Parts: sequence; structure tokens; C-alpha cells
Amino acid sequence: MLLVRYNPIAMITLHDTNLRYGPATLVLEGITLDVRQGEFISLLGPSGCGKSSLLRLIAGLVDPTGGELSIEGQTARRFRHSSNGVSLVFQEPRLLPWRNVRRNISLPLELSKVPAADRQALVEASLKLIGLRPEDAGKYPQMLSGGMRMRVALARALVTRPSILLLDEPFAALDELLRQQLNEELLRIWNERTPTTVFVTHNISEAVFLSQRVVVMASRPGRIGATIEVPFDYPRSSTLRASSEFAILVGQVSDLLRVEST
Ligand SMILES: Nc1ncnc2c1ncn2[C@@H]1O[C@H](COP(=O)(O)OP(=O)(O)OP(=O)(O)O)[C@@H](O)[C@H]1O
Ligand SMILES: [Mg+2]
Repeated sequence: MLLVRYNPIAMITLHDTNLRYGPATLVLEGITLDVRQGEFISLLGPSGCGKSSLLRLIAGLVDPTGGELSIEGQTARRFRHSSNGVSLVFQEPRLLPWRNVRRNISLPLELSKVPAADRQALVEASLKLIGLRPEDAGKYPQMLSGGMRMRVALARALVTRPSILLLDEPFAALDELLRQQLNEELLRIWNERTPTTVFVTHNISEAVFLSQRVVVMASRPGRIGATIEVPFDYPRSSTLRASSEFAILVGQVSDLLRVEST
């Protein structure tokens, strides 16, 4: 039986946070959101509402231009540089074509100057966690299918054992069956490693299937329109997707998204 740890303490705190990319471009306005340690939330919203920008803020890649943002009491930029900080996964796997799978996965460890002696065990643990076979570890990205490349990107993100995992539409380019399979694997990994996870998607059933809470954003300027608690227990499997409770919640979120998009 898999157990999900529940920790009520907020790890990521945004309070009335704004982001401008220039004097005339207010991208995010008045974002107030607490994400608990180990929580899994998804962000849904129309294209251009600022979902990726919100991930970039939490990743410490851009600074808020107003309001507050703290992660474990530090600025996001400072938290990014702490050990076991943040990992970000994009829609494109962004693997280096001249490095094989194992060496792609080891890259973040090299960049953060983890001693070579410690790297191998971390890379092997990450390969195993993501279900990559030893014979795949020596292959180059161009020899892999899209699904396999995404697994490698996930393994690379997890190799540093991040306490925050940010995913920006990671499975959008995959077929539906593969997406569902990777959703289930992502939940298994989340349960095992318990990173605080923020997952961006345009797929409503994916958001509901994965998350404890779904945040629906509205645009111009980007803001939070509604937050929905997802009441289903973990572990979640494909039987949940077939249930009427699941379909009803997906319908409700879809209605909210329609309201917030108009
Ligand atoms: N570096 C930048 N400079 C100026 N404007 C930007 C920059 N990055 C994003 N924007 C603008 O900020 C807004 C939000 O963009 P963002 O990429 O965060 O949206 P999104 O919700 O992730 O969209 P999508 O669903 O299409 O990925 C858009 O209007 C975009 O044009
Ligand atoms: Mg985006």
C-alpha cells in the first residue's frame, strides 16, 4: 500500500505577487498561493495566462516585481542554489545529442559539482526510478522514442533529488496512452520521493488525475481564478479515470476553465 504523506506546512508562499516583463506588460497580478511541502498541484489556464511565468518565478529564474514570494523562508533565487533545490522539466526533453542517456542524466550533478565518486550511484538510482533499462543507458537521444526521451528528461530532473519539481506541459507531445502511463509513473515517483510538485498542463483530466489541488488561472493579466480540491485517494490508477466521480470533477473543472477564459 502506498501512503501519501500529508504536511500542512506551506513550503512555497506567494502573497499578492506581481510579475512585469516591462512597464507595459503586467503578466501576473496578485497571485496568492501556498503550496504545502510534498503537495502535488496543477496549473490550468488559457494560453498566455502566465503559467510558465509562474513556474519561472518559483524556479528563481525571474524575480517578482511586486508582492512576496518565499520558499522555506528564502527568496526563490536563493533557494534555487541550495542543495536539493528545484528541478524544471519542459515540454521538449532538451537532451544533449552528443551525450548518451547516462551522461545526460549526470549533467546536473556535474554542474553542481557533485564529486565523480558520488555521481554514479545517483545516476543509477535515477535510471532505476524512472524504469530505464541498463541497455538503454548507453544510447544517444536520437536513438530513443519521444516517450523514452521524456523519461530521460525526468530522470535528469530527479537525479539531484530536488525538493521542488516543476513540470511545464511535460507530456503534451505524447500520445494519450503514453501520457496516461507516464502520469501513473509520475505519481509512483512522487509517492516515493515526495517532491513538492507544480505541474502545468492544458489537459484537464491529467490535472485532475495527478493532483491534490487544481489551480485554474485567468488571463490578461494572469491571475488565479479558482482552486479546486481533488478528493480522490492515492494510489490512483486507470480505474479512477473510468469512474463517474472522476468524470463529474473533470466536467466541473472544465466549466470553471471556460468561465475564467471568457
Ligand atoms: N521574456 C518575456 N518577455 C516579455 N513577455 C513575455 C516573456 N515571456 C512571456 N511573456 C508574455 O507573458 C505572457 C505569459 O506567458 P507564459 O509563457 O507565462 O504563458 P503560458 O500560460 O505559459 O502560455 P502557454 O499555455 O501558451 O504556454 C504572454 O503574454 C507572453 O507573451
Ligand atoms: Mg507555457
